Formats: sequence, C-alpha cells, structure tokens
Amino acid sequence: MDKICALILAAGKGTRMHSPTPKVLHKLLDEPMLGLVHQNLEPIFGADIFVLCGHGSQALKQTYPNYNFIHQTEQLGTAHALQTALPTILAQDFRQVLVINGDAPLISTSILEKFIKDAAASDLAFATLKLKDPQAYGRVVRQNDQLIGIIEAKDYDSSTYGEPSGEINTGLYLIKTDLASALLPNIAKHESSGEYYLTDLVALALKANYNVLALQCGFETHLLGINTPKELLELEEILRSEIVAKWIEQGVLIHAASQVRISPKAYLEPGAEITGPCEIYGASRIEQSAQIASHCVIKDSTVASLAKVHSFSHLEKAQVGPNCLVGPYARLRPGAILEESSHVGNFVELKKTRLGAHAKANHLTYLGDAEIGAKTNIGAGTITCNYDGFNKFPTKIGENAFIGSNTALVAPVTVGAGALVGAGSTITHDVPENNLAITRSKQKNFPHKPLPKEPD
Ligand code: UD1
Ligand code: MG
Repeated sequence: MDKICALILAAGKGTRMHSPTPKVLHKLLDEPMLGLVHQNLEPIFGADIFVLCGHGSQALKQTYPNYNFIHQTEQLGTAHALQTALPTILAQDFRQVLVINGDAPLISTSILEKFIKDAAASDLAFATLKLKDPQAYGRVVRQNDQLIGIIEAKDYDSSTYGEPSGEINTGLYLIKTDLASALLPNIAKHESSGEYYLTDLVALALKANYNVLALQCGFETHLLGINTPKELLELEEILRSEIVAKWIEQGVLIHAASQVRISPKAYLEPGAEITGPCEIYGASRIEQSAQIASHCVIKDSTVASLAKVHSFSHLEKAQVGPNCLVGPYARLRPGAILEESSHVGNFVELKKTRLGAHAKANHLTYLGDAEIGAKTNIGAGTITCNYDGFNKFPTKIGENAFIGSNTALVAPVTVGAGALVGAGSTITHDVPENNLAITRSKQKNFPHKPLPKEPD
C-alpha cells in the first residue's frame, strides 16, 4: 500500500460560529473539535498527521503543542489549503493523503478505516451523504448516473445542473499526491468568494481521466461538519447520547441519563453509579461502586471504588481514594489527593493538598499546599494561610492531630502528630508532637447595664 498521511484542514476562521475563538477550538463535551478529529486519526496514522492552521494558529499551537502544524498564511480556500501543505507532504514521500475538515469531529476511527479501505484503489475518492435538506454543503452532481463534479451550494444553479439530488460532499477525501501535484495548480479562483475550492479537483480529475470515486455513505450523521453553533449542539448531542448509552451497556448505572455529559476521554468502570444532571470531563476515571450524585462537575479526576461524591461538588485534577466521602458543595482543585476513607464536607476547598487516610475536613475549610496526616481532624472554618501576597508556603500536619474550629495556620508551619490546636487560634509557629497550642486571649466577663427593652 502507498505511504499515506492525514491532513486536517483547520486554518479557516469559522465566521458562522460568531465567536472570536477559532472554530476548531470550540468544544464538544469539553474537548476541542480539533482534538477529537486528531484522536480519531491517531490509531490509523500515528504521527503522520498534519494540521493546517492559519486563523488563530497561536491558540491552536498552545492547546496542542505536539501536533505537526503547517501554516497557511492567507486562508484562500480549501484547495489553497492542500496546496500549502503539499510540499511538506511530498518531502516526506507520502503517496496518498487523507484530507479531513477540522470541523468534522464525529468521523470515528472505524468510519475512517472503512473509507480508506473502500477508497484505496482510486486516485481521488470522497465520501458523500444523502440529506433531505442539503443545507450549505457542496452538491454532488451526476448526469445519467455519471459523476460530473461538486458544486458549492451558493454556486448551484438548478437550470444548469438539475434539481439537487440531496447528495452532498462531506469534505472527507483520499487523494493521490501525484494527482494533487498535477491538478491543484489548475484550480481557478472563484471570483465571488476569492477562494480556491478543493471540490473543483473532482471535475478536473474526471476530465484528466483519473479514477475518481464518490463513495456514497447513505445518511451517516457522523460525517456531518460543524459550521454554526446549532450544528455544534446537534453533533454534541449525538456524541453525548452515544457515550452515555455505551457506558450503560457496559454496566454503569446512569440515572437521568439524558442529562449526563461524559467526555469521550473519560473511563467508567461497570458498577459505578452516576445521577444526572452531571458532567464528567477530560481523562476522568470513575471506579466500580463509586457514586456521583447530581450537579457535580468532575474534570481530569479519579474517583476510586466505593467513594461517594455528593451533589454540587466540583473536582478538577483531583484524586479521591476508595471509600472517601466528598461534599455536598465540595471543591477539589488541582493536586487534591484524598487517601482512603477520608472525608471532605460541605464548603471545603482543597488545592495541592494530601488528606491522609481517615482524616476529615468536614465543614467550611480551605486547605492549600498542605499535607494532612492520617486520622487527623480539621475543625470547621480552618484556613491554611498559604499565600503572603508573593509566594505560596506549605503547611504540614501530622497524624492523629486535632485542629480546633476557626484556626488560621500561617504557612510555612508544621503541626506535629497528636497535637491539639485550640479553637480560634492563629498558629504562626510550629507545634511539637502531642502538644496543645492555643493563641487566643483569655475570655473576660464584665457586668453591664441592662440592655434597653425592644419595643413591643
Ligand atoms: C466544505 C466543502 C463543501 C463540503 C463541506 C463539508 C469546499 C469549498 N467546500 O465547505 O463542499 O460540503 O466542507 O463540511 O471545500 N479551511 C482551511 N483553509 C482555508 C479555508 C478553509 O484550512 O483557506 C478549513 C476550515 O478551517 C475547515 C475546512 O477547511 O475546517 C472546511 O472549510 P469550511 O469553510 O468549513 O468549508 P464548508 O463551507 O464547510
Ligand atoms: Mg465546514
């Protein structure tokens, strides 16, 4: 088989999205569409994937620093896009290129594999769909069953080409690089838009007697592209419901499933239980018998088996160990690590903090840059004062310690194992093991005049 690579066209502005964000960075289930397209190509093409960027290229490169980008300085259309990438592709001896639009994130690896297999023998192949409403897609024109070419929607004239059949171009092509080198320079500019259309390659190739194949893929919604917010939401909903159905099929119990959003990157073990509405994004992992209650947002986090995350909790880059309890209304920020059977209760925030096994921080607390020993109890309202306005400092608390309510721990500071801190203390010096530390002033009681009576 010919040496083959993939080219993702992602340089366009995406004017119809009405957004300053480059179109291919718009997200489905919290994943930018470019990442989804790339991910679908990876099992087939490995590192041989090029991404053509232009509009917003800085943001694309920042989001995906490891991708092979080729720069298209001026966005002069999809044919100009392939022409721009061709020298790089030819320099690496690729004989065939799969061209895919960066706005088609639902074209899965298995669809791509089938397309490449069916298209392999032709010089130029492209996938087509039959749509009831062909919208703004390029129309496939056939006369007496013979393929003639593709005409863009805005240039389609029924008196010349006949009533549209509903067969449209999906924008997925397999092209021999020899053909591209020979014919791309012959594509003319469309004066109406000032662009060179890749779709014109079809008619040119037919004229030059190349073997051209329009592969009819029926009504396969996964081949549709995203040009508007409405289309993004429609495709996102297809992806969402398929992912949820897949996990239910594999033994995950998902209540209110229509309101559960799970990233294609997330992994759920059979026996996990999720209640919607709820969002599980990124490379999150929810293990067997873990329970996620409604209104939680979980991103790039692990929830181990038998742990319970109660409603309205937010987790990002956090690890929740087995048997832990989290929330309701807990916030676990990046670097929060809960060892087994530890508890984080309502209105508790953890950042870059390890909570030891069986330790508890049950109410109204902030723990940042901290190490909390096993079985230690953090009282309500405890704050690690980790930031002096310039730098962050660590707090260490040993095992079996007890921090009284409303304690401020001014970092850097260490509280030894078994130590006791009196409620309302501001701890600025280390507390040795098994010591009692208390900093509040003694209570004084004075008699006072009787208070004026409240009016009836
Ligand atoms: C394109 C096809 C249309 C097809 C549809 C399928 C053309 C002329 N039309 O239309 O036949 O039905 O896709 O979704 O090809 N891009 C660049 N550089 C450019 C211009 C575009 O990289 O100079 C990229 C865009 O970022 C986008 C892709 O090419 O990812 C397609 O461009 P878009 O403007 O979305 O074309 P459509 O109007 O959807
Ligand atoms: Mg498009």
